[in-house]
Amino acid sequence: MTKMITRIFAPDAMGLTAAADVLGSGGLVAFPTETVYGLGVDACNTDAVARVFAAKGRPSFNPLIVHVASLAAAEALVEFDDAARGLAQAFWPGALTLVLPLKAGSEISPLVSAGLTTLAVRVPDHDLAHQLMAAFDGPIAAPSANPSGEVSPTSFAHVRNQMSGRIEGIIKGGVCGVGLESTIVATQPVATLLRAGGVPSEVIEAALGYDLARAGETAAPTSPGQLASHYAPKGTVRLNADDLENGEVLLGFGAVDAAVNLSATGDLVEAAANLFDALHQLNALGAEKIAVSPIPEHGLGRAINDRLRRAAAPRKVPT
Ligand code: TXA
Ligand code: MG
Repeated sequence: MTKMITRIFAPDAMGLTAAADVLGSGGLVAFPTETVYGLGVDACNTDAVARVFAAKGRPSFNPLIVHVASLAAAEALVEFDDAARGLAQAFWPGALTLVLPLKAGSEISPLVSAGLTTLAVRVPDHDLAHQLMAAFDGPIAAPSANPSGEVSPTSFAHVRNQMSGRIEGIIKGGVCGVGLESTIVATQPVATLLRAGGVPSEVIEAALGYDLARAGETAAPTSPGQLASHYAPKGTVRLNADDLENGEVLLGFGAVDAAVNLSATGDLVEAAANLFDALHQLNALGAEKIAVSPIPEHGLGRAINDRLRRAAAPRKVPT
């Protein structure tokens, strides 16, 4: 078999047109969003979507998020209720994914939703993502552009290191501003938080005027992708560390003497933006035992702690 050569696309009109052509012929192209880099694919091409699961080594029961340019484009794919429309108007473009009933007759490949009757959609807040969507002119399904279970990519270099030779192309964009994946909410039968993410749950609750239910508490779907072990760096991870055991490397938060610090000033927005890059840095340092400073459980701290708990979880390969 010939080895796949990954093309690197410049973040300009020519590069984006070439990247859109690759998507159009069933190829996989990683592109930047404000949350993390996505591994884009034509959402209507089942053979191409199947290759995403293979490239990531991802269990195929785990559905993908579809990226569209506008609320109007999303309305063509899924059924919005009032709560969902209100959230879309408040947070799109942005780091919120809505899980809604798939419209009958949609051309989205059934592999994207892994056979579920719902579909996850979002409008990203990133110029290059919008230029790619405009050039491609169709829904783009995109999981985070990392091998399944590993640390998500927030820079071109992360994607290049993790995915070169496995995908057709990478758009050479900058660093992702938010740094954590989108928050996922289903609104039916009741508004439910499926994944903590780039928009803090308190902010969504303030927009709704009531609290979100938590996944598993209601009849709303759970997120099949919420595997216990995920985002795992090469080393083991110990959370809420106020001390350092022999051989451990500190991933700090706040004014501590750390090998890598998420935010020396204790700023949760900065810590979110730095989290995945910090884990990539610890991999590059060859850290075998990582201790992590305590991180407050509010605002973006909830999503940071969610990712770190999964990074610390026992790494049994899911069956
Ligand atoms: O910020 C993000 O959301 C990034 C960027 C690229 O947009 N994407 C991302 O995709 O994080 P991924 O595939 O790594 O995570 C998607 C999550 C999974 O946990 C999956 O189970 C959930 O979305 N999901 C997708 N469709 C769903 C559905 N119909 N019902 C419930 N959960 C769904
Ligand atoms: Mg992911």
